[in-house]
Amino acid sequence: MTARVTRYITTMQRNMRRVSGFLIFVFPCYRKGDYGMGKIKTGAYNPLPVAPMVLVGATVSGKPNYMAVGFVNGVNIKPAIVYVSLNKRHHTPTGIIENGTFSINIPSADYVIETDYCGLVSGKNVDKSNIFTTFYGELGSAPMIEEFPITCECRYTGQKVEFDMDTVYFGEVMQVYINEEVLGADGKIDVLKVNPIYFSGLENRYRALGEDLGPGWHIGKQYTPKQGTAEAEPRGPKYQCSIVERCAQPALTIRSRVAPAELAATIGQSAATVFLFARDNGSTPSGALFVAYHGFDGQGLDIEIGFPFMPGIEGRGNIHLSEIPGGKAASYRHVGSYEKLPEVRTALEQWLSINGYVVCGATYEIYLNDPQTTAPEKLETEILYPLLPGS
Ligand SMILES: Cc1cc2nc3c(=O)[nH]c(=O)nc-3n(C[C@H](O)[C@H](O)[C@H](O)COP(=O)(O)O)c2cc1C
Repeated sequence: MTARVTRYITTMQRNMRRVSGFLIFVFPCYRKGDYGMGKIKTGAYNPLPVAPMVLVGATVSGKPNYMAVGFVNGVNIKPAIVYVSLNKRHHTPTGIIENGTFSINIPSADYVIETDYCGLVSGKNVDKSNIFTTFYGELGSAPMIEEFPITCECRYTGQKVEFDMDTVYFGEVMQVYINEEVLGADGKIDVLKVNPIYFSGLENRYRALGEDLGPGWHIGKQYTPKQGTAEAEPRGPKYQCSIVERCAQPALTIRSRVAPAELAATIGQSAATVFLFARDNGSTPSGALFVAYHGFDGQGLDIEIGFPFMPGIEGRGNIHLSEIPGGKAASYRHVGSYEKLPEVRTALEQWLSINGYVVCGATYEIYLNDPQTTAPEKLETEILYPLLPGS
């Protein structure tokens, strides 16, 4: 009897480790308490009801290997960075380190059995290379699954975070491959056609996509603030952006990290350097001076200063070929002194957020006239926010 119980516990522990924490919270134990609105404490565990199910692929000792993963998601839009959290005992991480690449393969519900199987057996003991048809993309070493509607190849960024059981690996998505059949009439991925699998750790079940509840970054606009609560900023027309579609413009820029106090001087110097370099090479800018603000780390601003040019221009040394990105953008023309720009940008960013627009990448200020010859109140600056498509 004792031997049977020990065997049972050992098997259970092995299974728990195998799914990397997922089964640990399958049967939470509820305890009634006094936590307002009838809430009960249920313990410390991952309460996310569902996770998208994927197979992470890597080449291990020359062979494609795929494992089931629910700890997966995106962490940055541009560049597209994803993470996968993998138990240290698994076979797949060896391949990620070996080649510096991995793939994420999104199965359709038709492949739920094969997907689960890849989570039940390890490449250490079982050859999983012939379950699917494997293809390789641009990276050459991240195996991808032909049968799955969406796959992508990732370059391991070299960044990882170690926890007791799992290691979180970050990867940059280098290319996404889709099966044409999952494209909708508008040429975009139709998620219903993909028919992805979700794993519900809370109940240990696979589930398919549910009801359509409305568009993201939009439906929240229907929210009516509770009585007596003012909106953060009125939607009034004072700082309303125009939403535009832009073509990408090639540009020559100098990228620098500067203290805010050095900003004006750096803009002047870099603008002159780029302008003179282009002139000496027989080119003139096709548009006005601009600064792209990539970020501020508390001490320094990460900025790019330059001019747009016609295609074909090339940089040299610290003058780089860059671009003012194309696509959907929010644009606002500020008329007035440059000193007002931070205040205007704060108000615009509130307007964008209230109206459900998601800014994606650097913010651009394009200085449309010359501060040497224009009165401060007549200066014109276009402020440009590239937007996440669909927001
Ligand atoms: C539903 C499900 C979700 C899983 N999620 C993860 C996960 O997020 N991370 C992980 O390390 N293992 C996860 N696993 C377990 C691995 O897929 C499994 O241990 C696999 O056999 C490892 O394969 P490998 O040793 O060939 O790499 C999951 C398994 C299942 C069934």
